[in-house]
Amino acid sequence: MPPPAVLSFACLSLAGIARAATVTYNWDVTWVWASPDGFGRPVIGINNQWPCPAMEATVGDTVVVNLNNKLGNQTTGLHFHGINQLQTPDMDGPSGVTQCALPPGSSVKYQFTVDAPGTYWYHSHSMGQYPDGLRGPFVVQDPNDPYKGKYDEEHILTVSDCITAVRNMLTPSNSRFQPPIPDSLTVNDGQGSHINFTKGKTYRIRIMNFAAFGAAMIHFDSHTMNIIMNDGQYIKKQDAYHLRVAPAQRYDFLISAADRDSGNYPFLVSLDLNRDWTNSTEEMTWGHNYTGYLVMDASQPLDKPDVVDRWQPVDDAHFQPYDNASAYSSYDKLMKLDFKFCLDQNGYPRSCFNNLTYINQQVPTLYSAATTGDSNTNPTIYGQVNPFVVKYGDTVQIVLNNIDAASHPFHLHGHHFQVLDRPASGTGEWPGRDENYAATPPVRDTIAVMPNSYVVLRFRADNPGVWLFHCHIEWHVEMGLTATVIEAPDRLRNLTFPADHIDACKKSGTPYQGNAAGNTQNATDTAGFVTVPPTTYIGIRLPLKGRNFPQP
Ligand SMILES: *[C@@H]1O[C@H](CO)[C@@H](O)[C@H](O)[C@H]1NC(C)=O
Ligand SMILES: *[C@@H]1O[C@H](CO)[C@@H](O)[C@H](O)[C@H]1NC(C)=O
Ligand SMILES: *[C@@H]1O[C@H](CO)[C@@H](O)[C@H](O)[C@H]1NC(C)=O
Ligand SMILES: *[C@@H]1O[C@H](CO)[C@@H](O)[C@H](O)[C@H]1NC(C)=O
Ligand SMILES: *[C@@H]1O[C@H](CO)[C@@H](O)[C@H](O)[C@H]1NC(C)=O
Ligand SMILES: *[C@@H]1O[C@H](CO)[C@@H](O)[C@H](O)[C@H]1NC(C)=O
Ligand SMILES: *[C@@H]1O[C@H](CO)[C@@H](O)[C@H](O)[C@H]1NC(C)=O
Ligand SMILES: *[C@@H]1O[C@H](CO)[C@@H](O)[C@H](O)[C@H]1NC(C)=O
Repeated sequence: MPPPAVLSFACLSLAGIARAATVTYNWDVTWVWASPDGFGRPVIGINNQWPCPAMEATVGDTVVVNLNNKLGNQTTGLHFHGINQLQTPDMDGPSGVTQCALPPGSSVKYQFTVDAPGTYWYHSHSMGQYPDGLRGPFVVQDPNDPYKGKYDEEHILTVSDCITAVRNMLTPSNSRFQPPIPDSLTVNDGQGSHINFTKGKTYRIRIMNFAAFGAAMIHFDSHTMNIIMNDGQYIKKQDAYHLRVAPAQRYDFLISAADRDSGNYPFLVSLDLNRDWTNSTEEMTWGHNYTGYLVMDASQPLDKPDVVDRWQPVDDAHFQPYDNASAYSSYDKLMKLDFKFCLDQNGYPRSCFNNLTYINQQVPTLYSAATTGDSNTNPTIYGQVNPFVVKYGDTVQIVLNNIDAASHPFHLHGHHFQVLDRPASGTGEWPGRDENYAATPPVRDTIAVMPNSYVVLRFRADNPGVWLFHCHIEWHVEMGLTATVIEAPDRLRNLTFPADHIDACKKSGTPYQGNAAGNTQNATDTAGFVTVPPTTYIGIRLPLKGRNFPQP
């Protein structure tokens, strides 16, 4: 792979502006005692602080994160959600996929170029760990922002849910696949979110959903949201009164303080449990609300609530890309995925694509692709990771049938995809015909699929690597709702990995060469592949009794 300096230079010439910089973070991952929702508990923080710090860089910069695992009793890793990792597929971060999980007492360096501006986030992609705290905002600034000059200040608004009793979900007795229900909703990780609001000023709000399960509905009293970006992609300004932010999604919108404004304006965030909000007979529960304020006059009380009778969020599948880019007119490879809940051999509840649940293998999938020579185009060698091999340059169409009564947010690593069609709830499965698709579709990295319906996505396979496609409800990831795109494997054969990444494997005794089972002689020999999902979930580590954890 070319050295990062070369990549920076390439982006520099694109941006046509000041020299690309290197932004470095030296981070110890540590346990921290915190009370995000008023109940104390151990959380995973950075440099003994929680909430975790925001990352910030300018498009074209090289970002370096020196990550030191000081947890003592858990492995970890970091994924940079929405960063495409062009030419750095080994820096994407999911454990067991593009690296070995980082053992306690070890360090690893992530180094990559931020190729696109926008609002992103970073989080652990190891063992369902980010709901325990290891996540933070990641803003990539844009000197050529088309909305530059249209706003005066910017603010980050993160929303999340807090959940405790996860283990209950992953037992054979949970025959209805009940997810753990959040105990609370937090905004800015419990730090509050009042925004000083001055007449004549416009504010850019970057909202990000860090939740493990719930979506967030948001509404501002008497003020319209002018949405300008979804998942790091500029869109033509879109007015909205209600906005739904699914887990892992981000939106940037502008809010203006008009001359006639006076006093303080509440805004409401409601936690949405992914039921069908478009169905008036469906029983919706809005059990967790947060009210923040646009504060114009600090001497006045902040007590007026914002009340919404019925949530009717704007349809984000109809957003228009800012650059007018057309949909890819056809595709070379179809990835059709039927999602249903299912049971494994031991009767444990799982999630399946095409009747198969994702099972982590011994060798990280990218390491198998890099070390099995010509065999790496054969999906069999990767084991039950729901592999899809695509050729370099192919246009790939993903069709996802959501055969479930809830909405699910699906995320693709390594790419932003076009959303050609996202029909209403209850539409049923994809009819197998390609018609009436959006001509200039929105482009993003996470899409909420409606209940009992489907979505049609397209992307161009121009980024060799191994990229996950998964539901971003973290409990469903734990249950195996993941597929793997093996992209341009012929271009991965000479990939080499940094010594510290290999050391993470060596230190934990994880094989890092050969097929899914570490067979370096015969890649098609499936002996040793993991075919039964684990019956204990090592990632689920919270005390489960009540919510009053004793502070150590
Ligand atoms: C908001 O305004 C208050 C009072 O006018 C001030 O004390 C506070 O520092 C301001 N906050 C920010 C983030 O600017
Ligand atoms: C709406 O919800 C009701 C009650 O849950 C259900 O019976 C009906 O099938 C739903 N309609 C659609 C279009 O999904
Ligand atoms: C949350 O807000 C919604 C919408 O205004 C309301 O219907 C619901 O009753 C509220 N929930 C609680 C627990 O206050
Ligand atoms: C997109 O199209 C509109 C009109 O259709 C045009 O005004 C605008 O300049 C175009 N934007 C870009 C970035 O090409
Ligand atoms: C999944 O299993 C069902 C029932 O056994 C079968 O009808 C269906 O064709 C299978 N789907 C796929 C994609 O294999
Ligand atoms: C990979 O290495 C082999 C052997 O050293 C060489 O023949 C081949 O051209 C290389 N492939 C790429 C894509 O660089
Ligand atoms: C590789 O393993 C497969 C499956 O066990 C077997 O059929 C094949 O003969 C083996 N190939 C070699 C070269 O040993
Ligand atoms: C790991 O250590 C932390 C901090 O001491 C503790 O809260 C947590 O329960 C431990 N987890 C496990 C799985 O032992």
